[in-house]
Amino acid sequence: MSTTTTTSAAHTAPTDTAPTDTAPADTAPTPEVATTPAGTPYADAARNHLWGHFTRHSVYEPTGSGGGGADVPIIVRGQGHRIWDDRGKEYIDGLAGLFVVQVGHGRVELAEAAAKQAQELAFFPLWSYAHPRAIELAERLAGYAPGDLNRVFFTTGGGEAVESAWKLAKQFFKLTGKPGKHKVISRAVAYHGTPQGALSITGIPSAKEMFEPLVPGAFKVPNTNIYRAAEGHRDDPKAFGLWAADRIAEAIEFEGPDTVAAVFLEPVQNSGGCFPPPPGYFERVREICDRYDVLLVSDETICAFGRIGDMFACNDFGYVPDIITCAKGMTSGYSPIGAMIASDRLFEPFRHGTTYFPHGYTFGGHPVSAAVAMANLDIFDREGLNAHVRENAPKFRASLETLLDLPIVGDVRGEGYFYGIELVKDKATRETFDDAESERLLRGYLSRALFDAGLYCRADDRGDPVVQLAPPLTIGEPEFADITSRLRSVLAGASAHL
Ligand SMILES: Cc1ncc(COP(=O)(O)O)c(C=O)c1O
Repeated sequence: MSTTTTTSAAHTAPTDTAPTDTAPADTAPTPEVATTPAGTPYADAARNHLWGHFTRHSVYEPTGSGGGGADVPIIVRGQGHRIWDDRGKEYIDGLAGLFVVQVGHGRVELAEAAAKQAQELAFFPLWSYAHPRAIELAERLAGYAPGDLNRVFFTTGGGEAVESAWKLAKQFFKLTGKPGKHKVISRAVAYHGTPQGALSITGIPSAKEMFEPLVPGAFKVPNTNIYRAAEGHRDDPKAFGLWAADRIAEAIEFEGPDTVAAVFLEPVQNSGGCFPPPPGYFERVREICDRYDVLLVSDETICAFGRIGDMFACNDFGYVPDIITCAKGMTSGYSPIGAMIASDRLFEPFRHGTTYFPHGYTFGGHPVSAAVAMANLDIFDREGLNAHVRENAPKFRASLETLLDLPIVGDVRGEGYFYGIELVKDKATRETFDDAESERLLRGYLSRALFDAGLYCRADDRGDPVVQLAPPLTIGEPEFADITSRLRSVLAGASAHL
């Protein structure tokens, strides 16, 4: 089963354990072997008690029992775009944690916003009550969202936002005389989260097969991977985009328009390696959704909050969805929160009589997270982060594109501060690696080598093998050059490890 992997030293413990002199001055000296309050070395406690997410644990099992014997990489500190592990080694955070830390690590004002709110009102739910921070944040998000997307339903993360959107779509159509509309369409290889509804929408078979049967009624269409498009479409993005959009209309027709409730699409699809929408794609998708009365859900769990250059990426690409789902960058990860933002039309049936949305999360719109989100968005405004991304994205892309001279680099694609580098066996034919080669390349070499080179990023083979970059939005040309040179040093030697 293919899995995603962030770069790490997990396959073999690093040999260089000496603290570097690049740690900030206020870093406490790293003890010989740091221990938990129970007196256990962290690596041992992690090995014995922590269950990693999407994590292959055999890597950490003792060698005597057939495991890899590696220590779980432990990150102890972050500052700006840099992170440090428990051995004092410094890395560039090339993935903003997990597409999350937009404003960078170590922002004291976000910690203070959390502390202030916890003192004032640590918790209150949004179940028939409200609190000021959720109200302020809802108003602010509605202001950023296009069209009449004015109604904000808070969750604690992206998967819950996706789950909420599917449930809303089903209930909306039940309330408005189209009770048969319940199915959803999404794209091949796309990731939309792990709750069982969101997992049905996800298009990665290996992430789903262990949990079948999932929620029925989720159908897949091709994504916008133009690098793998049919020959005639590769050089004609517009024609390819219209072709890909028309597959959605085809799926709606196949399933029956009276049965389809929503289409879930990311502005730039993450899984598979950053597939931007071809020109005209979303315009055509919007037309199709209007024609069949199918809701367009823009899953912006990754793409919102400046990742592409606007607060919401649908604004970057000029379309107005019916629902936006978002999370991650809303607080830059200083506290968890997610949201489903719905149009006035979708909220209208809920304004009357005894009708309500029987759905919610205890921690949805948590006061501390909402306060942190407000402070985080203040940083965006004050530092002009969206403009910074728009101005610098072409330089980031150009820097990464210099890697195209390496035989293993087949494609560099993405938008904003969000890029994928596809690795190929044969550049001329675009031949990809088989499963065994991909395993050796990504887990046997690249993951560790990139981490050893001081770059935390993602090596992913849920589609074809890619290396993905989504750094904090604060970085500029010197960091682009640094990231690119670390990538070059590692990728140049990759073919030898197949
Ligand atoms: C597009 C998309 N949707 C949903 C999710 C799930 O978000 P979460 O992990 O916060 O539940 C993710 C996570 O990366 C995502 O990228």
